[in-house]
Amino acid sequence: MSIPWKIKLILSLLSPIRNLCFRSNFTINRSLYNFLDRKTPPSPPSSHDVIIDPSRNLWFRLFNPSATANAASDNLPLPVIVYFHGGGFVTSSPDSAPFHSLAHRFSENLRAVVVSVNYRLAPEHRYPAQYDDGFDAVKFLDSSVDILPPTADLTRCFLAGDSAGGNLAHHVAVRASGFKFQRVKLRGVIALQPFFGGEERTESEIQIGNSAPGLTVESADWYWKAFLPNGSNRDHPAVNVFGPESIEISGLELSDSIVVFGGLDPVQDWQKRYCEGLRKAGKEVKLLEYPNAFHGFYIFPELPECSLMMNEIKDFMILQLKKIN
Ligand SMILES: *[C@@H]1O[C@H](CO)[C@@H](O)[C@H](O)[C@H]1NC(C)=O
Ligand SMILES: *[C@@H]1O[C@H](CO)[C@@H](O)[C@H](O)[C@H]1NC(C)=O
Ligand SMILES: *[C@@H]1O[C@H](CO)[C@@H](O)[C@H](O)[C@H]1NC(C)=O
Repeated sequence: MSIPWKIKLILSLLSPIRNLCFRSNFTINRSLYNFLDRKTPPSPPSSHDVIIDPSRNLWFRLFNPSATANAASDNLPLPVIVYFHGGGFVTSSPDSAPFHSLAHRFSENLRAVVVSVNYRLAPEHRYPAQYDDGFDAVKFLDSSVDILPPTADLTRCFLAGDSAGGNLAHHVAVRASGFKFQRVKLRGVIALQPFFGGEERTESEIQIGNSAPGLTVESADWYWKAFLPNGSNRDHPAVNVFGPESIEISGLELSDSIVVFGGLDPVQDWQKRYCEGLRKAGKEVKLLEYPNAFHGFYIFPELPECSLMMNEIKDFMILQLKKIN
């Protein structure tokens, strides 16, 4: 494992924080967690917050790429990326420092307007609250005028997310496939190490187990327990999307996807099964595999895989946008 020592140090602090806040009865000490979760305020004009529904604290942080980066192309329409942060459906928000920074990098590197959604968290709000919020955010963009900057082009829309956010991007895409939007046209799904699972133990879960940084099998199991309705197991179709209880998607009009894997991620076999399932259902998927990447590597922009990944995502978006125009 060739992880820089500074990153190793940060990762080694995560496990004691988890142990302090996450209880064995699948509840969380939210006030303690929020105290430890470092927040970043929006930084106008490159980012600001927009409220969708205050009754459930549904809002998003909007990132607009800087006008100075490429003056010649300033009047060109920009793609819109609806982004869902990771955190096992239990932690973090668009204003958590690592996710503010990640969304900002997506916006600058991909020259896209990024809408980073604050969805409700488990276990206070279990499945399907997160999917409801994610889909409602897309519908809000579709029906609201003058919310996005004038350069944002909703006919060039992508759904994206990391970890639990990658799971969300998939399920929101499935819901959106049957919906008649006024303006939104979905052009692709970008899933960074999407959080999927199942009752069976895969080879990568057995081999990597609790030894890798970023995510252990033990914490993954905890997150699913906190997220799923009482009495459900990991073969629930939200988790095991191509498992025994899954819904048929071959008839749905789903856009193409790009899926990122890491060789040190215990969940990688479930991500591969997800890609196989999409392909069997006749959908196009591009796979990006980084052997040295642990779960959540994209939080650390200094890792070489981050810039490689951004370039591949950029190419994917360009290809997707050419397909229809
Ligand atoms: C879980 O444990 C905490 C701390 O021990 C306790 O305060 C809380 O009431 C428990 N919640 C449930 C639902 O059992
Ligand atoms: C959460 O943790 C803090 C710090 O350990 C403690 O003071 C507080 O009582 C805890 N709250 C709950 C509801 O368990
Ligand atoms: C689910 O289980 C938790 C913890 O055991 C309990 O507090 C809660 O009331 C249960 N919810 C339902 C809907 O049964």
